Amino acid sequence: MSFSKASVRDAEVAGRRVLVRVDFNVPLAGGRVADDMRIRAALPTIELLRERGAALVLASHLGRPGGKPDPELSMAPVAKRLGELLGTEVKLAPGVIEGDVDLICGALGPGDVLLLENTRFEPGETENDPKLSEALATLADLYVNDAFGAAHRAHASTEGVAHHLSGYAGLLLEREVTELTAVVESPKRPLVVILGGAKVSDKVGVIDRFLEVADRILIGGAMCFSFFRAQGIATGDSLVEEKGVELAAEALERAKDSDCELTLPLDLVLGRSFDAETERRESDGVEVPDGWMGLDIGLRTAELYAEAVAGAGTVLWNGPMGAFEMEPFAAGTRAVAEAVAKAPGTTVVGGGDSVAALRKFGLDDEVDWLSTGGGASLELLEGKKLPGVEALMDAEDSDSDA
Ligand code: 3PG
Repeated sequence: MSFSKASVRDAEVAGRRVLVRVDFNVPLAGGRVADDMRIRAALPTIELLRERGAALVLASHLGRPGGKPDPELSMAPVAKRLGELLGTEVKLAPGVIEGDVDLICGALGPGDVLLLENTRFEPGETENDPKLSEALATLADLYVNDAFGAAHRAHASTEGVAHHLSGYAGLLLEREVTELTAVVESPKRPLVVILGGAKVSDKVGVIDRFLEVADRILIGGAMCFSFFRAQGIATGDSLVEEKGVELAAEALERAKDSDCELTLPLDLVLGRSFDAETERRESDGVEVPDGWMGLDIGLRTAELYAEAVAGAGTVLWNGPMGAFEMEPFAAGTRAVAEAVAKAPGTTVVGGGDSVAALRKFGLDDEVDWLSTGGGASLELLEGKKLPGVEALMDAEDSDSDA
């Protein structure tokens, strides 16, 4: 299925004001942007619009301020970093819609870039309040959504506003949807999916979907302990998501009737506590004695997973294999990251933690697509509709609205 929404490439923007929803929900440290991946990812859309003579009103949320202003979550550091990346001044609005924001927007000229304050300073944002959507719509002539990471949220700036302005997909949003959809709908085979992280409940929808479409699912990370508990295997002091145990048992049942092979770790690396300095040992099997916790997949598992990745036509990786932020427990995640980086097939990596792992190992340039979406990429892979995408104009309707 090709992307069916109207593209920013086809919008007539010269001399017009464009409200662009971006996902600049980035980590901050010491009042600065600590990781600008999401800002960089939005640059192609911003640059395209500026080159074509649009004035830009950018909008994003940052953190979860709960509907009221919080100086710690101001967009000021983001405006500064974006200005550095664009090599031009990025003005920061004093609010989202209140005060003089409409006048400031009215004074923007072609190529100018204004960043609104954190959209979640307004209570109407997460409530998708039509009053806020309408007010946002008055700031511009058309709307572009490039906030893939927030496209699973039906909020005023991601969904509501598209009912008041002609809405186009940004380049990042279009690429994300195209790349992730292709993994599910037209993968080169075999399709191998590696899932890790702490919670089965976060991934159960994806497991279900891929039991139908993938050739193999490889499980790692703390979520494997919900599977082991469901099989009656001792998990010692390992982190076990209790509600995940039943979900894991159901997934194991479904896997029996599926053509997809669901693979669990064969061996583990154990620690006494969740601490880089803790006593560590490698275990031959997967039983974890009391007084120990599983903190990484073992060597045999890492080799097995790397081999599966090497033979895959398409690889999707979401979630680390262990506590990779602690060096003694990083080997499993590193082995998978290296295997994904070297894989001859198409490689797609999603989810903040696996992207962070790839970057930690300096391998982020070695994969075909690195998703900026966490929850949004999981929901799309599960087969859910994303409200931020659905609300945009269909490509065939865009000519008359441009
Ligand atoms: C993300 O970081 O996944 C997105 O920006 C969405 O943020 P949210 O989970 O706070 O809605």
